[in-house]
Amino acid sequence: MSEVLLQIDGKEVRATEGASILEAACAADVFIPTLCHHEKLEPHGGCRLCMVEVEEHGRSKLVVSCIYPAANDQVVTTRSEQVDRIRKMILELLLAHAPDSETLLELGREYGADRNRFDKEASFCINCGLCVRYCAEVKKADAVGFLDRGTRRDISFIPEIAARECWQCKECFPLCPTSALQAAYVLVSSLAFPGARHQAPSEC
Ligand code: SF4
Ligand code: FES
Repeated sequence: MSEVLLQIDGKEVRATEGASILEAACAADVFIPTLCHHEKLEPHGGCRLCMVEVEEHGRSKLVVSCIYPAANDQVVTTRSEQVDRIRKMILELLLAHAPDSETLLELGREYGADRNRFDKEASFCINCGLCVRYCAEVKKADAVGFLDRGTRRDISFIPEIAARECWQCKECFPLCPTSALQAAYVLVSSLAFPGARHQAPSEC
């Protein structure tokens, strides 16, 4: 397979043709923050936190690095005033949904995000889709899905499938950047399997 040669934060980086800028950066030990990316899943491009600046063909633009292909002669900047400002805004919006998420709070500190900038919304799920996509793409189980659409989307386990698949699996739990996933599981298991052990085990 052929390779492309680009520059990321001043570092010469070789990447396999077809790799995303995020993959190229990871392989070169350059950190780009992500919330909806997982190496086992198809690229999603949902959270936009991985946005970077790219200069190519004499023009500079912002791109979503997890879905934007690495190419010859690109000059990538993973942090700049503009990039940091966008990440800060994204984090402030997400913190309105999940104000106690350690993952978001840590990222928020890095980008100077104000946890209280926007009115709180009681969802806690930031719709990253990691749990839904992991269950569908990796486990082929479809035990977890979204309810409703748009800003009111929330996560839910499908009780009949969850009863069969989830107790032995729970591989999605550590993927969740908030507490929403385990809360949804505890809720569905308490409604669907009365008398069962509802507390999600901590070793997951
Ligand atoms: S429950 Fe967690 S992993 Fe699933 S979509 Fe919501 S925030 Fe993402
Ligand atoms: S990690 Fe790229 S959009 Fe979420």
